[in-house]
Amino acid sequence: MIIAIDGPTASGKGTIARALAAHFGLPVLDTGLLYRAVGYQTQLNHGDPDRVTDALAACDFPDSLLDDPALRFESTGSLASRVSVHPQVRAALFQRQVDFANQPGGAVLDGRDIGTVIAPHADAKLFVTASAEERARRRHAEMLGRGVEIGFDAVLADVLARDARDTGRADAPLLRAPDAMLLDNSDLDRDAAIAAAIAFVEGKVGRRG
Ligand code: DC
Repeated sequence: MIIAIDGPTASGKGTIARALAAHFGLPVLDTGLLYRAVGYQTQLNHGDPDRVTDALAACDFPDSLLDDPALRFESTGSLASRVSVHPQVRAALFQRQVDFANQPGGAVLDGRDIGTVIAPHADAKLFVTASAEERARRRHAEMLGRGVEIGFDAVLADVLARDARDTGRADAPLLRAPDAMLLDNSDLDRDAAIAAAIAFVEGKVGRRG
């Protein structure tokens, strides 16, 4: 069984992906991490994330980079969003994601183009979202919790900029697949959102959990 989860930044799609993977006993891939690795490696190479040759050269990052805590930084998310607009970068990361999706037994993947490009044949697709203000509020609280001093307006501006870049790019933009369940969790807590996602997948593929 393949489960495809897409959605904008800070929508909670990673939480939903991990919960579904645990519930159904499937491996999970956070595809954003691959783009984050390319963005971060570009910076390590002193390259320019907006220049395709620099971003492409960073696509052969070492696998060990995927464990680097710096990939989780907010600044790395912006680098990832910038390198991800290059079709050549998307092509370089394509097969790795497709192979993960098609492994025997299935998988859960979360990202921006899973249900549309990477696994259009997925058994269940979810588009996880929340209002920009709510996503910024959650990210702001999480950053303050980590001791990062930043104002709410700066976080909201970053969320809106990421949304604009991820939905506005020409190649594989963030888009809800027509057959994806829309899970807007603006007014749902974590457990309710997870329960809704599990119920949707079970309804789609039958109870296997
Ligand atoms: O999910 P995330 O915030 O870790 O993703 C970081 C950036 O990577 C995101 O802004 C756009 C890009 N990305 C993408 O283009 N396609 C994906 N499948 C996953 C992420």
